[in-house]
Amino acid sequence: MSKPTPLIAGNWKMNGLAASLDEARAIAGGLGATPARVAICPPAILIHRMAQALSGTAVLVGGQDHHWDDSGAFTGDVSAEMLVDAGAALAILGHSERRTGYRETDAVVAAKVQAALRAGLEPIVCVGETLEQRKAGDALAVVTGQVRGSLPAELAGRPFSVAYEPVWAIGTGLTPTTPEIEEVHRAIRETLVELFGDFGRTPPILYGGSVKPGNAAEILHADEVGGALVGGASLKAEDFLGIIRAL
Ligand code: PGA
Repeated sequence: MSKPTPLIAGNWKMNGLAASLDEARAIAGGLGATPARVAICPPAILIHRMAQALSGTAVLVGGQDHHWDDSGAFTGDVSAEMLVDAGAALAILGHSERRTGYRETDAVVAAKVQAALRAGLEPIVCVGETLEQRKAGDALAVVTGQVRGSLPAELAGRPFSVAYEPVWAIGTGLTPTTPEIEEVHRAIRETLVELFGDFGRTPPILYGGSVKPGNAAEILHADEVGGALVGGASLKAEDFLGIIRAL
């Protein structure tokens, strides 16, 4: 089976206004030839305008989260179908900021993944241990447990990726060592093969957490690293392009 096509996705989190579309245009304009699929996931309210700004370019647009139901009385929420309608092709689900800040369990994440698939969105499912869990020697158990609990059987045969994001590395400037990243990525791959058989070899496993132009080459070339989920450094075209070019 061929190697997964790498995916490099920018997670803008709750950052970005209409003026930030210039940054997205600069990313698309500076992309050049790359073996990666590249995506930007802006706040939901910017998706439609960003999809228009990037139409005809190779850069995909994604959402950062959506509800697990298709429609209904959920004040303030958006559905997967709404993201697709606005121009999104992917969705980040199960980010630790959602798991921690909004108490999303594996079961909630799995239900959101099912909703994404119903709408035709490609899920990027995030997993990752806290510093306490790593110090206690539980990182592999926590991460593989999240993979088992967050990935529903319906993903078989569908495009998706898993993003390993150690909670303690997000927005902190700290990163695990390359052997630590490889150990977790191999464990995720084994779990994917356990769950999905041979198809489990095809989804890219992204690394996320303080990826910058300066550390991207080493991280992106580590064993079983199939791309990156980039927060802070995806907000500036120059930095995001630096990461993409490191592949
Ligand atoms: P960071 O965020 O690159 O700013 O550490 C990554 C993420 O939360 O996806």
